[in-house]
Amino acid sequence: MLKIANRVSSLKSSSIMEISARAAQLKAQGHEVISLAAGEPDFNTPEPIQAAVTAAMKEGITKYTPAPGFQKLREAIAKMVSTENGFPVDPEEVLVTSGAKHGLYLALQCLVDPGEAILIPTPSWVSYRPMIDLAGASVIPLPLYEEDGYRPNIERWKGMAIPPNAKGIIINSPNNPTGVVYSREELVKLTGWALQRNLWIISDEIYEKIIYDNLTHTSIAALGPEAKKASITISGFSKSYAMTGWRFGWAIADKPFVAKMAALQSQSNSHVTSFVQWAALTACTLSPSIGASMVAEFDQRRRYCMERLDKLSPHLTYTRPTGAFYIFINLSKWLLAHKMTDLEFCKELLDKEYVGAVPGSSFGKEHSIRISYATNIENLKKAFDRIEAYLNR
Ligand SMILES: Cc1ncc(COP(=O)(O)O)c(C=O)c1O
Repeated sequence: MLKIANRVSSLKSSSIMEISARAAQLKAQGHEVISLAAGEPDFNTPEPIQAAVTAAMKEGITKYTPAPGFQKLREAIAKMVSTENGFPVDPEEVLVTSGAKHGLYLALQCLVDPGEAILIPTPSWVSYRPMIDLAGASVIPLPLYEEDGYRPNIERWKGMAIPPNAKGIIINSPNNPTGVVYSREELVKLTGWALQRNLWIISDEIYEKIIYDNLTHTSIAALGPEAKKASITISGFSKSYAMTGWRFGWAIADKPFVAKMAALQSQSNSHVTSFVQWAALTACTLSPSIGASMVAEFDQRRRYCMERLDKLSPHLTYTRPTGAFYIFINLSKWLLAHKMTDLEFCKELLDKEYVGAVPGSSFGKEHSIRISYATNIENLKKAFDRIEAYLNR
C-alpha cells in the first residue's frame, strides 16, 4: 500500500462540504432536505458576467495567461480597490487567485515556516487551521466571547503569552461564522496590537460587500501605511456576486511577496482560468445596484431568521449578525439538558428533520451551531418550523 505523505496524513476534507454531501445523499433518497450549511448564495451570477465569459470563449481567451493574472485585470482590481477600499494599490501588488481560499493558501505557504505560529481570533472559518497545518505551522486561537458579541477585545488577551514564533494573525471581518462586522475603532486597536507584536496581518475580506444596518467595511490596509505594509488583503466576488463556482479572487500585498505567491501559483495551478479572468473584468465594473439587490434580499432573510430565533429564546441565544449570511447560535442550555454535543445535534437535525446546519466545534466553539440564510424565505420557514419542533420535543 502506498505510504501517504505525513504532510497530508491527518488532512480531512472540509467538514462543511461533508455535511453538504450527506444532505445531497438524503435528497437523492427522496427526502426534502433544507440545507442551512453551505456558505454560498442561492442566486445565479449576474447576467453581464455570464455574458462576458461566453464572449471571452468566443474570442479565444482560452489560452495560458501570466501566472499573476492578466495585467488588465490586475489594473482593474487595483483601481477598484483603491477607490472602494480607500488605500492605494499598484497593479503589481495584485495577484489573481483561484478564489479567496487559494489566495489564503498561497499567502500562508509564502508566509510561515514550520515551527512558527499564526494567531486566529476564534470561532473562525474552518479552513484556516488545515491550511496552517499544511504549512507546518501551528495555530494559536485567540478566544472571542459571546458576552463581547464575538468582537475582538484585546483586553481579554492581555494575560496571554504570545510566543516569539508567532508570525501573523488572520482577521476576518465581516466574520464567518458569527456574521459580526468589526468597527473601524476595533480594527484600529486590533491592528495596533498586532503591529506592536510584529505580526503580519492576513485580512480575509471576502464578505466585504455583504453588510447591513448601514454599517461600512474597513480594510486593514486602509488604516495607514504601516498597516498596509504589514497586511495581505484577501478578497473576491464569490459571495458578493454569487460566483462561488468560478474560483476567482485576489490577494493584495507588498510587491516582493506577491511575486513569491505568483511563483508558487505558476508552479502549481499556473493561473486562474483565462476566460474567468476575462469575465472578472466585467465584474470589477458591475453596477453597484446589482450587488445591492442581493444584499437587500439577504437582509430580509436575516430579519426573518432573527424573528424566528427570538421566539426560541428559552432554548438558545444568538449574536445579531450585521454582515455575511450566517447566524451563530449558542445552544449550550439545550444541549446540556439533552446531554448532546453540537456535532450530535447537527447529525440528528439532518437525519431526522432533514435540516442541515454546521456544528460550532467545526469553527472552534462547542455547544453552538452556524446556520446560513443563503436560501429563500420559504425554505427558511420550513427549516425553522422543523428546528422549532425538534427543540420543543
Ligand atoms: C471566511 C472565508 N474566507 C474565504 C472563503 C473562500 O472563498 P472563495 O470561495 O472565494 O474561495 C470563505 C468561503 O466560505 C469564507 O467563508
